[in-house]
Amino acid sequence: MPNPVNVLCIGAGYVGGPTMAVIADRCPHARVTVVDINADRIAAWNSDTLPIYEPGLDEVVRRVRGRNLFFSTDIACGIRDADIIFVSVNTPTKNFGEGCGRAADLQHWEKTARQILANSTANKIVVEKSTLPVRTAQAMDRILNSNTRGLRFEVVSNPEFLAEGSAIRDLENPDRVLIGSHETPEGRRARRAVADLYASWVPRERIIESNIWSAELSKLAANAFLAQRISSINSISALCEVTEADVDEVAYAVGTDSRIGPRFLKASVGFGGSCFHKDILNLVYIAESYGLHEVARYWESVVRMNDWQEARFVRRMLANMFNTVAGKRIALFGFAFKANTGDTRESPAIVVTRQLLADHAHVVITDPKALDNARHDLAGVDGHVEFEADPYKAAEGAHAIAVLTEWDVYKELDYKRILESMERPAFVFDGRNILDHRRLFELGFNVFPIGKSPLKQP
Ligand code: UDX
Ligand code: ADP
Repeated sequence: MPNPVNVLCIGAGYVGGPTMAVIADRCPHARVTVVDINADRIAAWNSDTLPIYEPGLDEVVRRVRGRNLFFSTDIACGIRDADIIFVSVNTPTKNFGEGCGRAADLQHWEKTARQILANSTANKIVVEKSTLPVRTAQAMDRILNSNTRGLRFEVVSNPEFLAEGSAIRDLENPDRVLIGSHETPEGRRARRAVADLYASWVPRERIIESNIWSAELSKLAANAFLAQRISSINSISALCEVTEADVDEVAYAVGTDSRIGPRFLKASVGFGGSCFHKDILNLVYIAESYGLHEVARYWESVVRMNDWQEARFVRRMLANMFNTVAGKRIALFGFAFKANTGDTRESPAIVVTRQLLADHAHVVITDPKALDNARHDLAGVDGHVEFEADPYKAAEGAHAIAVLTEWDVYKELDYKRILESMERPAFVFDGRNILDHRRLFELGFNVFPIGKSPLKQP
């Protein structure tokens, strides 16, 4: 049994919560505490209704909470007792000042660093878990090690690669764990201590140790590469629609080339989530700040293609619904940025809803897990929006259904019953290509998939 270790995580969000639950589960020798400034969030983590939905999370938390996993609002006490401090506070894109809309907003990170400094009485390892711009560790180093009390902090970068909706699986069986540190004896010792935690369940050969800048940049680069694949296939989807090619067939043919591979080639209404936009824009900002304008433009185009795909989806709805949706009821199936999560950050559904409302549609949103977040995202937006948990009721009296999230439940609905309750002609715009298009057409729907010829009733 390894030596006991006290682990603290500051920030009880989508990253901190699941990651610490799995570390506590797999490292019985570790005492893991998760703290947050948001008392409601901590109360929810301590209740039967966890603040985030993630398949498998409830079971893990139930197993370890109160054993070696604790949720608390006492940040000062947590810092004092910790040997290793993970920081997973939010680092959204700045919405003000210099770098607005592109650079990361590091105010929470800096506050956290100062809090760590104020409450520490011994040396500690500080682990960057939030995705941060390259060289943030340097700033952290300077803040933390500026003390005159002789305290020494080693900053380690351990970027998170978990995807929401499969977070527990990704954490339990990661492709790799990346840990970067300064290439000094103390730096290497610190990254080894973090590696030892993961080694309780991750094979050593999957734990990659690197210099700290490589670790920070690898996270941004990995997300940019993934998003680039989606923008690439989405650009092809537009071409498919005008050439009678089928984007799923093209993606299959391209993806069976073993050099390319099949994943992240699913055409869609667009990518969302808290990472892709933010990380690519970050990369753009960094490139720009080093005077690498071509590099910046190159990556920026990945985001621009995504914006275009979202806007194109709505334009296609309009064009096929006789150029007007004013006063028409339109049911949106799904609001989360992907299935199996209630998270709606950067969800294409937000853009689609706003554009439909701008065209005076009457929008009805349904989603199994994301309605609360949807209400929050659309607070103060002008126009007629309804929220309805039951997809059958959402579709009642609607002129069109738009599928925006690939939830399995939408594949299994009784579309005959749905069609009977809708206005005619009835339209389905499948922004995720998950429905049985041929069957819907045979029932009487006009069907518009992404990247495939439409199936229109005569
Ligand atoms: C991503 C990265 O995958 C993860 O490694 C990183 O740590 C955080 O960002 P996440 O945002 O949770 O994870 O979701 P992901 O599964 O990557 O999907 C992102 C978006 O792309 C979703 O909106 C999804 O619906 C969309 N997508 C994904 C597609 O449109 N097509 C695809 O083929 C794959
Ligand atoms: P992520 O997806 O990166 O996990 P979230 O927004 O879900 O992002 O979680 C970040 C959490 O960090 C939030 O619960 C927020 O309240 C918390 N947080 C932000 N700043 C601080 C701080 N200074 N101290 C403690 N917690 C913080």
